[in-house]
Amino acid sequence: MGGGETGRDTSGSGRATVARIYDYFLGGTYNFPADREAGDRIIHAVPETPIIARANRMFLRRAVRKLATLGFRQFLDMGSGIPTEGNVHEIAEQVDPRSRVLYIDIDPVAVMVSNEMLVGNPYCRAIVGDLTRPDELLEALRQPDLAEIIDLTQPTALLYFSVLQSVPDDQLHRAVEPIRNELPASSALAISHIGPTIIDTAGADPVNNGIGVYRTHAATHITLRSAEQLLPLFDGFTLMEPGLTRSSDWHPDANNEDPYHEQPERSPMLCGIGLRRH
Ligand SMILES: C[S@@+](CC[C@H](N)C(=O)[O-])C[C@H]1O[C@@H](n2cnc3c(N)ncnc32)[C@H](O)[C@@H]1O
Repeated sequence: MGGGETGRDTSGSGRATVARIYDYFLGGTYNFPADREAGDRIIHAVPETPIIARANRMFLRRAVRKLATLGFRQFLDMGSGIPTEGNVHEIAEQVDPRSRVLYIDIDPVAVMVSNEMLVGNPYCRAIVGDLTRPDELLEALRQPDLAEIIDLTQPTALLYFSVLQSVPDDQLHRAVEPIRNELPASSALAISHIGPTIIDTAGADPVNNGIGVYRTHAATHITLRSAEQLLPLFDGFTLMEPGLTRSSDWHPDANNEDPYHEQPERSPMLCGIGLRRH
């Protein structure tokens, strides 16, 4: 049964949200009629959108596994979304069951469902927060209840998976830099972001139509960004090989699960992990 049928819309607005549209693309159940209508309109404009969401989730899992294998034990997941298969804490816990994860999302439904999943887990939590208000987040992170999950004096993996495209250009650096700059040496910054390849493969008009649905139905302006536009976010960090690349090129796993692996030139998600130099 979908979340809509259970009447658990804690947002109270009845509008579509990015979190729940994305849940719909991934075949999840925490979406409502308004989300499904918006999702169908986006799919009508750009039919491969659910495939892009899947490619992003697969990068998320490879990235977190890589970070956990490198020794990261704290993950700050910004715009974490509604839980689905292979969440950050589940991947990290495969390496160390005491891995700590703080999920932050602007969507109360995403946070409620995340906390339901985390009941009994003393190492992980989800909170409602707006990543475009980093000073408020930093203030919250300094409070004892959250500081025991994420200790900002210790190396931390800061994750922005498929969320910064919802942040307009004039807010992008102001959103990321205060938290990124707070991280100690040997921290990590992981980003995935929709890039302009989708215009080449799907066409400018369909993409603009899809972006228009996000604007009219979910009050969200989506910005496509190139690698050149995203690279400054990694200032002070050294990108791990192979750099900021298409998802299909970023450490493909043994069974090449990325849906674009046979057509990498069509792969629209740009993905990378940087490690803080000092
Ligand atoms: C496309 S989903 C990605 C979810 C997850 N990170 C993933 O990669 O599977 C984007 C998420 O970012 C959240 N989001 C968008 N703007 C945000 C903001 N300003 N602050 C916090 N979360 C935000 C949305 O609610 C949504 O859950």
